Amino acid sequence: MQFFQKAVKDELTAVNDLILAQLESNVGLVENIGHYIVDAGGKRLRPVVVLLSSLANGYEGSDHLRMAAVIEFIHTATLLHDDVVDESNLRRGKKTANMIWGNEFSVLAGDFLFAQSFELMVETKSIEALSSLATASCKITQGEFQQMQISNKPETSIEKYFEVIGKKTAELFGASCESGVIVANGNVKQQKAAYDYGYNLGLAFQIVDDLMDFNNNSNKMGKNLGDDFKLGKTTLPIILAWEKSNSSERKFWVKTIKELKQEPSDFNKALTILNKYNIFNECKNKAQEFISIAKEALFELPNTKFKEYLVGLADESIERYK
Ligand code: IPE
Ligand code: IPE
Ligand code: MG
Ligand code: MG
Ligand code: MG
Repeated sequence: MQFFQKAVKDELTAVNDLILAQLESNVGLVENIGHYIVDAGGKRLRPVVVLLSSLANGYEGSDHLRMAAVIEFIHTATLLHDDVVDESNLRRGKKTANMIWGNEFSVLAGDFLFAQSFELMVETKSIEALSSLATASCKITQGEFQQMQISNKPETSIEKYFEVIGKKTAELFGASCESGVIVANGNVKQQKAAYDYGYNLGLAFQIVDDLMDFNNNSNKMGKNLGDDFKLGKTTLPIILAWEKSNSSERKFWVKTIKELKQEPSDFNKALTILNKYNIFNECKNKAQEFISIAKEALFELPNTKFKEYLVGLADESIERYK
């Protein structure tokens, strides 16, 4: 368990209990699939930022626990759907639901978790948080859609990539922090600050995730290495490499990413080109820029230890391996 999860350990246990209680209201295959992915764990990073954002605004009630559970439900629903779209077979160190039960059941289980999030959300009675999360949920789907549309297109602009990851990943981080402040009755400036922190953290988080697909260890991640490459996903390493590549290297990207004609040795060839142009460092620097913006946004929040935890969490997210 990482430090920032430890900082809200008791709250996270309560969030987990809420999630389980919500899941246990029914029992059947769809709930089993829900249980399967929830029980596999995950970093619970979004609940952590909800809780810290609330606590950083002096919150003393219990709605932040519900809000954190709501957001983990939404996140988990998107993972079930994402693994279908990405044809992934490993998630949180276990076989994906789509591998075990198939795409159809996985999609429906994702819908079920999403619906469960609404039941819990209503209990917080916060229309403002509902609005923030409704917007984020629409954007996630748009972002996942656009991610598919830019697939196999290494010539995609960096701006387009940021738009896509902004929607598919950063919006939920933004809404998590914003709704944490909303339940704590923070003012509009504080809500905006928390949203900006979360959004920029989310951008950095997805950049690091895209990097790890090339440059990490499957066991640590609990996901397969090279999943994005195999499907020709257009991620930041690929975009930057395409920009810098010479004509023979571009031919390689056309064959592997555009035409998806891959041989087993191609992943290592891709790594060689990425290393030649120092792409991993460039991606890390980009992520670092967003982390700096995220931390600056926190200026509007009162100075508490919880704000310090948000700063530390942002720094740590660049160095993560899972
Ligand atoms: C995975 O999110 C999806 C991305 C946005 C990259 P996490 O890396 O937070 O997944 P879990 O919840 O820890 O499994
Ligand atoms: C998905 O991005 C982000 C979501 C909205 C779920 P990825 O497809 O890179 O996430 P992982 O690597 O499968 O977790
Ligand atoms: Mg995926
Ligand atoms: Mg995906
Ligand atoms: Mg990924």
